[in-house]
Amino acid sequence: MANPTKSLVFIVFFHLFIQISTAANYNVISFGAKPDGKTDSTQSFLKAWTSACSSSTRSTINVPKGRFLLTPITFRGPCKNKITFLLNGTLVAPLDYRALGDSGYWILFIKVDGVSFVGGTIDGKGTAYWACKNSAKNCPPGARSITFNWANNIILSGLTSINSQQTHVVINSCNNVVVKNVKIMAPDQSPNTDGIHVQSSTNVTITGSTIKTGDDCISIGDGTKNLFMSDIKCGPGHGVSIGSLGKEANENGVENVTLINAVFTKSDNGVRIKTWPTPSNGFVRHVIFQNIVMINVKNPILIDQNYCPNHQSCSLQSSGVKINDVTYKSIEGTSATSEAVTFDCSSSNPCSDIKLEDIKLTYKNKTTTSSCKNIGGSSIGLVVPETCF
Ligand SMILES: *[C@@H]1O[C@H](CO)[C@@H](O)[C@H](O)[C@H]1NC(C)=O
Ligand SMILES: *[C@@H]1O[C@H](CO)[C@@H](O)[C@H](O)[C@H]1NC(C)=O
Ligand SMILES: *[C@@H]1O[C@H](CO)[C@@H](O)[C@H](O)[C@H]1NC(C)=O
Ligand SMILES: *[C@@H]1O[C@H](CO)[C@@H](O)[C@H](O)[C@H]1NC(C)=O
Repeated sequence: MANPTKSLVFIVFFHLFIQISTAANYNVISFGAKPDGKTDSTQSFLKAWTSACSSSTRSTINVPKGRFLLTPITFRGPCKNKITFLLNGTLVAPLDYRALGDSGYWILFIKVDGVSFVGGTIDGKGTAYWACKNSAKNCPPGARSITFNWANNIILSGLTSINSQQTHVVINSCNNVVVKNVKIMAPDQSPNTDGIHVQSSTNVTITGSTIKTGDDCISIGDGTKNLFMSDIKCGPGHGVSIGSLGKEANENGVENVTLINAVFTKSDNGVRIKTWPTPSNGFVRHVIFQNIVMINVKNPILIDQNYCPNHQSCSLQSSGVKINDVTYKSIEGTSATSEAVTFDCSSSNPCSDIKLEDIKLTYKNKTTTSSCKNIGGSSIGLVVPETCF
């Protein structure tokens, strides 16, 4: 007969073993979340986060099918382990846009390390907010749908983000971030609904993503270093933009940015660099735009160092931002205007080492034109429109 004490010891150790060897799983439903789209599930999500964050094993937070109503929510680190959010359901913002408040954020991750956010849909319900903005009433600042601040080693994969009040995805002061296979959608006339904004961050990769919005598909702010973007579909929207930069006198530069394999469809711009015409110590250097197809894009290639909307007092100055070493290679397709290439560089800090290689942009089956101000560089291969520097 088996010794009962030995059996008991075995059972205790077996349970311990199971606990240590399996990743901890937290289903938001068991913390009280309701998949009905009406019940506020914010506190339940926070409880799930607190458990996952204090768990000593790698943990997963499951969000099953259904619609979960969330008011502004902050997932704060540091945590004791890596956490995966596995979404099958949809996170929805309140219908009343004022419920997202004045903080400017809806779903916010702060100081986390090793968080993956996989699958699912987030719906910012921005329609009423845009109407407020368009009628110039006294509107709140508007909320970005999902933001990572001071976060490292982040994966954002397979997410669909629709109708954010403001920018859909923000990566700010982060290191080592992968954004892949995301879909971002907002109507083409919705104000300031940028797709992805990257700022003050190093080693960010954005791949395989489709972005259709009312503002920039991807916007790149100061302090961005080692940004790699590939297989991007953009449009409608305002294109991929480095900037606007140089509004502040003291700014970090943008360095080592690559965009490869992209299609722009009916967007206002293709690849753009824009700076305010004001004094600044900012810079843009080592940028590559390669293998890009333009379909009916208004400004396929654009450097605008006189970005001064609403004719503010800035318009009489010149930009301090130094733009150097930018390569445009294998870019072809159609422009929606006759001027397909515009380089309007700073008179006090001319653009230098700008390279054009194998460019073919047409307008109504005809050759396009280019315009140049304060720029130096070189061109190789067939370049249409003809290079103007
Ligand atoms: C939930 O989502 C994950 C990853 O997106 C997927 O592998 C899984 O099959 C989904 N589960 C259900 C029940 O839909
Ligand atoms: C960025 O990536 C490079 C190359 O892999 C690495 O050497 C560097 O430490 C990374 N930077 C940060 C801040 O993680
Ligand atoms: C530039 O960025 C790429 C990613 O696009 C990275 O692999 C490379 O190491 C970076 N170069 C430097 C000098 O940091
Ligand atoms: C451009 O030319 C092609 C073939 O020569 C023709 O089929 C097409 O309709 C033309 N497009 C425009 C916008 O003129």
